Amino acid sequence: MKPIPEDTKITLAQLDENPFPIYQRLRSEAPIVRVKNVGRTFVTKAVDTKYVKDNPRIFSSNDPDTPMKRAFWAHTLMRKDGREHLRERMAMAPAFAPKIIRDEWVPHYEQIAKDYVARLPRGELVDLFPALSGPYAARGLAILLGIDAASDIEMQRWSQALIDGAGNFGWQDEPFERADRANEEMHALFDSLRGQHQAEPNNSALSVMLNADEPISRTQIYANLKIAIGGGINEPRDALNTILFGLLTNPDQLEEVKRNADWDKAFEEGIRWVAPISASSRIVTEDTEIRDFSISKGDTVMTIQASANRDEDLFENGEDFFIYRSKNQHQSSGSGPHFCQGTHVPRRAMAQVMLPILFDRFPNLSLPDPSTVVWRGFGFRGPLNLPVLLN
Ligand code: HEM
Repeated sequence: MKPIPEDTKITLAQLDENPFPIYQRLRSEAPIVRVKNVGRTFVTKAVDTKYVKDNPRIFSSNDPDTPMKRAFWAHTLMRKDGREHLRERMAMAPAFAPKIIRDEWVPHYEQIAKDYVARLPRGELVDLFPALSGPYAARGLAILLGIDAASDIEMQRWSQALIDGAGNFGWQDEPFERADRANEEMHALFDSLRGQHQAEPNNSALSVMLNADEPISRTQIYANLKIAIGGGINEPRDALNTILFGLLTNPDQLEEVKRNADWDKAFEEGIRWVAPISASSRIVTEDTEIRDFSISKGDTVMTIQASANRDEDLFENGEDFFIYRSKNQHQSSGSGPHFCQGTHVPRRAMAQVMLPILFDRFPNLSLPDPSTVVWRGFGFRGPLNLPVLLN
């Protein structure tokens, strides 16, 4: 077995700005590498990222000592393993059942999509990030979770505060203070809604968790809601913005998609091309190996699904946005026991609802200057703006 090579040059700023050339080089030169400035071992090939996520006994999620715990006021299901993880995950599962998504949540998403698209001004240059993608993701999620008393602005602010707090590896005060304020507001809202959900049980996540035969603790019910708020707004929003960027900068593909109503394919290619959650951490529980490199107990490995999604072993011209690729085995929804619990929601809400409604109302929607779109993010990635002409 060989020791893992160490990279001392890659910086977080480079990864935040444009990680893809770095991943391309790592896949060919150093697929397992210790990145000093991130303090993690990067795993960049698809077969290896999947192996890590599918083997929670060796590569555990259980890390009770993260900024996430501080920011969420709880040790959440995302950082647990085994039965404890499964029990908390199953508590929320009825709200994510395919039939409930289809019969209850999709009609809500349809109504919200129609209303939010209808209020966009025709003939103007509009940034779709604040005008559509963010609020649409927030409103649908608020209903699904049973907290529709929260405004779109609050949902987005809480989500960002939780994400910033969970990623606060420098343990700075400001992000935690912002997360604390968000937690106070969220808990006050959840407390105020409990009686109503208990009196009138329904299929929202809060209601199914409160009314279960053997409910999990209140702290964990609230933690589950906060995980969904932290993970259920940014990713669908970034996915929608990314798909629109891909379609609008590839008009031939857009025409083909419109002709065949291939919105599902567009969705899968968008989240493959730029994975909204680009990287995940796992703790190594015993001395082990990947690709003949020795990995030590206690190390933290990072699966880079953004890189796995462009792996030359699986994808031809993986750096390109191409909806009609023959196979698309991306890992953007994760793999193994922590596979995205909400995975069917954005597929329906974005691909089957929002995209056709948006292009139906604005058939000549265009992106006049793609170079003004700013992309950012290492752990989470997407465009920061999407200035489109609504025609
Ligand atoms: C395009 C949109 C989305 C993407 C790309 C995405 C991606 C992911 C990924 C990669 C994970 C696994 C992280 C890991 O392995 O550590 C995850 C977990 C999770 N996601 Fe999503 N997600 C999306 C939307 C949503 C939505 C809309 C919801 C809720 C309505 C949601 C709820 C969750 C939950 C609860 C988990 C934790 C599952 C567990 O730990 O067992 N996600 N998501």
